Amino acid sequence: MTNCSKDIKAIVLAAGKGTRMKSQKPKVLHEIFSKPLVGWVLRALGDIEPIVVAGHGFDMVQEYLSKLPTKTAIVEQKEQLGTGHAVMMCLDNLKNFEGNVIILCGDTPLITKETLEDFIKYHNDNNSDLTVMSAIFENPFGYGRIIRSNNNVVAIVEEKDADVDQKSIKEVNAGIYLLNWNKIKKAFNELQNNNAQNEYYLTDIISWAVKNQLNVQGYVIKDNTEIFGINSREQLAIATSYMNKKHLKKLMIDGVTIVDPDNTYISPETIIEQDTVIFPSTYIEGVNKIGSSCKIGPMAHLRGNCIVGNNSKIGNFVELKNATIGEKTNACHLSYIGDSEVGNNVNIGAGTITANYNSITKEKNKTILKDGVSVGSNCVLVAPVTLNENAFVGALSSITKDVEKDSLALTRSEQKEYKNWVKNKKGIN
Ligand code: UD1
Ligand code: CA
Repeated sequence: MTNCSKDIKAIVLAAGKGTRMKSQKPKVLHEIFSKPLVGWVLRALGDIEPIVVAGHGFDMVQEYLSKLPTKTAIVEQKEQLGTGHAVMMCLDNLKNFEGNVIILCGDTPLITKETLEDFIKYHNDNNSDLTVMSAIFENPFGYGRIIRSNNNVVAIVEEKDADVDQKSIKEVNAGIYLLNWNKIKKAFNELQNNNAQNEYYLTDIISWAVKNQLNVQGYVIKDNTEIFGINSREQLAIATSYMNKKHLKKLMIDGVTIVDPDNTYISPETIIEQDTVIFPSTYIEGVNKIGSSCKIGPMAHLRGNCIVGNNSKIGNFVELKNATIGEKTNACHLSYIGDSEVGNNVNIGAGTITANYNSITKEKNKTILKDGVSVGSNCVLVAPVTLNENAFVGALSSITKDVEKDSLALTRSEQKEYKNWVKNKKGIN
């Protein structure tokens, strides 16, 4: 078996309701940096083709998956009869599959690609038939416990089924498994639900494999926060903070100044180059790339799909969405720039808005500002519209037609002046 992603598929368990979220939508669709929990798990899987098992809010999960750029299979588990039962729902889908299957949960968004790769490598290096990921917790309450005999993993016992001795074990089941599918799939026809929760436990495949003299391995995760599962809004906030802090730390190590890490949010899908300074209360979500020596914020909002060139400034209360900004370009105050292509050495005055959305046709249109353009304060650029090289737009203009290069465009009415108007009003001579 090789590491090649064609030889491996994934099953993502995501049928649970998440009662403690107190929500109309299924737990796995709650978001961190605008990406659903299950989306983070799929991201960690990289090229590995996933099958998502959904139940509660099936239609909503299906709708989300259908919009993803990569094909994602979904199977329905109508009744949630346990994690083993959830995997049974995939048997048809994997009937002719001969490789390895990695199983993980849709509500553990902190798991990383690096850890999964290391886990897969461990499985392959040890010629394992079944590898279970474990973690060491000082307080293991609630988790399944890893039972070892002569250091070999022989079983997993759930909290509710454990005796006093077993409850004292600090090595727990992380809920991530790698199965040599050909050898392990038979186990799913033999699972029983005679346990404290009357559920078909996925964890019972461990003792099944041991009984059938297969090679069972345990892989202990290095950073146990990666398997942190979300069950409540409070845990959602903890995971968001953890994901954010980890990325901010990486950015700082790589040469980015974060003035106030406690008040800055940058999604892990945002690349930022050296010597850029991020000022406080900046919120950056989605996939973005910010060049070197930029100044971002305070209070800037990047909503994804944004590219900012070197030496540019995105200042206070500036919102960018789906926008490319060139080098040495400034948008320093109070602007919205959406669905736009902005060149180099452009100056965008305070309060400039790209009117990109037509609420009748629901179309989003593009605004193009070529190199050297200067837009005065409080302008509306009604898309689709192009301002050609070095075009100059006077303050308070509303631009609905393209502007030629090197031209001045103005739409405001002329200034009038009434001499002594104030004095006359007040009746002073
Ligand atoms: C499970 C493990 C436990 C482990 C823990 C790690 C079992 C029996 N126990 O316990 O050993 O320490 O995860 O977090 O597997 N799900 C379905 N369909 C179902 C039941 C669950 O899709 O019928 C999904 C849930 O949505 C969730 C995941 O499977 O994403 C885990 O289920 P959950 O009930 O949270 O398992 P735990 O009791 O935490
Ligand atoms: Ca459970």
